[in-house]
Amino acid sequence: MCEIIATVLENKSIAEEIFSLTFATEEPIAVRAGQFVMLGVDGFPLRRPIAVCKAEKERITVCYRLKGEGTRRLASRYSRGEKISVLLPLGNGFFVTEQEKRVAVVGGGVGIFPLVSAIREYAESKEIYAYMGFRNRAAICMQYEMQRGKELVIATDDGSAGYRGTSVQAFMENIDRVKPHVVLACGPTPMLRALKNAVSGRNIPTYVSLEERMGCGVGACLVCACNLTNGLHARVCKDGPVFEIGEVTL
Ligand SMILES: Cc1cc2nc3c(=O)[nH]c(=O)nc-3n(C[C@H](O)[C@H](O)[C@H](O)COP(=O)(O)OP(=O)(O)OC[C@H]3O[C@@H](n4cnc5c(N)ncnc54)[C@H](O)[C@@H]3O)c2cc1C
Ligand code: FES
Repeated sequence: MCEIIATVLENKSIAEEIFSLTFATEEPIAVRAGQFVMLGVDGFPLRRPIAVCKAEKERITVCYRLKGEGTRRLASRYSRGEKISVLLPLGNGFFVTEQEKRVAVVGGGVGIFPLVSAIREYAESKEIYAYMGFRNRAAICMQYEMQRGKELVIATDDGSAGYRGTSVQAFMENIDRVKPHVVLACGPTPMLRALKNAVSGRNIPTYVSLEERMGCGVGACLVCACNLTNGLHARVCKDGPVFEIGEVTL
C-alpha cells in the first residue's frame, strides 16, 4: 500500500449519476481485481473508498455514483491535469483458483465496478458468466467491459433493458446450466442476502465484496468492522472487502 499524488487524466459522466475517473501514477502499480483505493477529496478529512475498475500499469480507473457531498465534489472539481491524493492498493481482492474454470459474477448497482476488474483479470483464462443489475436503462454502463466474458445478462429493476428483475434472479435462472465452480459478487446488502439464500446448500464457493463506511481504510480505526458468523468481527478494509459468503453476517 502507498500514498501517492496522481494526475487526473479524465473524469466524465458515463451513465445517469455515474462518473468514471482515470488517473495516472508515476510508477506502475499492481492492483488485484476487487482491491480498492481511498481517494482524498479536497475539503473532506475522510477519504472516500472506491473499487478499482481497471488497472493498466500507470493508468487506473474507478467509477463512482454521485451520492453525497464527497462524490459530487469529486465530479465537479477534478478535471484533467488536477492532482489527487490516493491510497492504494487496499484490501484483499478476489481470488480464483486454477481449478475453478467456470466463474459466475453477480453484481448490482455500484457493485458492478469491482466485478469489471474481475472480468478483465480472468476473461482470458476462465469462462465468465456475468449477471449485472441496474436500476434502469439509463444507469447501464461499462457494457463493453462486461462483454469480455462468455455470457452477459443485463438485468434492470424496471425491465427497461434486458432481463426484468434482479441480477440474483437472472443468475438463479441460469445456475443449473452454467454450473459455476465459483461465484464472485458485489452489491447492496439485500442483494447479497438474497444470493446467500439462493446458493445455500449448493456447495459452490461464493465470495462477496462488502461495502462498509470507512475511516482510515488501512485497518487502524475499526470504523468498518463487520460481524462474522462465528461471533467474531473483521475489518472490511483490511481483512476484506472480499469474504466467503458463509463467513459473514449479512
Ligand atoms: C470497499 C468499497 C468499495 C466501494 N466502491 C465503490 C465504487 O466502485 N463505486 C461507488 O460509486 N461507490 C463505491 N463505494 C461506496 C462509496 O465509498 C460511497 O458511495 C462514497 O464514499 C460516498 O461518499 P459521499 O461523500 O458522496 O457520500 P456521503 O454519504 O456524504 O458520505 C459521508 C461519509 O460516509 C461514507 N460513506 C457513505 N456511503 C458509503 C458507502 N456506501 N460505503 C462506504 N462508505 C460510505 C463516505 O465515505 C463518507 O466518509 C465503495 C465503498 C467501499 C467500502
Ligand atoms: S476503515 Fe479503519 S479499520 Fe477499516
